[in-house]
Amino acid sequence: MRPKILVTREVFDETLDFLARHCEVESNQGDLALDPAALAIRLADKQALMCALTDRVDARLVAAAPQLKVVANIAVGYNNIDLAACTARGIIVTNTPGVLDDSTADLAWALILGTARRVTELERRVRAGEWTGWRLKQWLGVDVHHATLGIYGMGRIGQAIAKRAAGFDMKVIYHNRNRVDADLERRLNARFVGREELLRGADFLVLQMPYSPGTHHLIGAAELSLMKPTAILVNSTRGGVVDDAALVDALEGGVIRAAGLDVFEGEPKLNPRFLALDNVVLLPHIGSSTEATRRAMAMTAARNAVAALSGEVPPNIVNSR
Ligand code: DGY
Repeated sequence: MRPKILVTREVFDETLDFLARHCEVESNQGDLALDPAALAIRLADKQALMCALTDRVDARLVAAAPQLKVVANIAVGYNNIDLAACTARGIIVTNTPGVLDDSTADLAWALILGTARRVTELERRVRAGEWTGWRLKQWLGVDVHHATLGIYGMGRIGQAIAKRAAGFDMKVIYHNRNRVDADLERRLNARFVGREELLRGADFLVLQMPYSPGTHHLIGAAELSLMKPTAILVNSTRGGVVDDAALVDALEGGVIRAAGLDVFEGEPKLNPRFLALDNVVLLPHIGSSTEATRRAMAMTAARNAVAALSGEVPPNIVNSR
């Protein structure tokens, strides 16, 4: 009998075609968000789940899916999945590393440039008819070139962000759980520093660590107060890494200059006080959202699921069983 897979969100035709060659596919192509109860009902007779960061795969869902063998997340982050509950049941969990590094790094750079040069704020002003003519001291931004870029989390995406800094003649400092090897540091022209030196030294601080209980509110009021009043914070990794209420206070109070945010605590809801601020660029979690990258992510997840169902070890397994 062919194994059954549930695909929780809309994906591309080629992904469904590939899956259909190997499994019986039930997919939510209407893309209506499935609540936990609906998800549990649909998963009850499935051996595989292909899901997204909007789906919570917790112990309750795992218990409701007695035949489940693999959870293939269409994301590199997997904080939406209870890894311990899956591992305890021998369920393989996979993610989609690599294919989204460059697109996500590009988006972090869009936030760096957008905040420094006030791109979205000034676009709003132009549309509102506020631009009455050129002036020397008008709507001044800050330079990105020759500034210090601080990267907190030097994994693949952090490295791709650092690489791009060379074109702007920036000084790059970074902090990471483990220092990267000397050869890579040389190639990226990046210097390892302690956490406090990173916070104090960066003109642009980009966060690129995964979310976990250990990184919850890694940036809060205390950390923000160490940053330069001229500094800009970019969060393109996960909501919850930053204490958003503390960040709003810091932006309102001039503790830092600006922030570029692609992710929020409790998204898609966000702290309404952000909306009143001009010194913040707000994006709807689009780090990996280019057509080529989203197609590649979906195919990577599908290949992981099929490999696991075929008894192979999928390339992107994140739990040891
Ligand atoms: C990821 O892959 O973790 C991204 O945030 C999804 O867009």
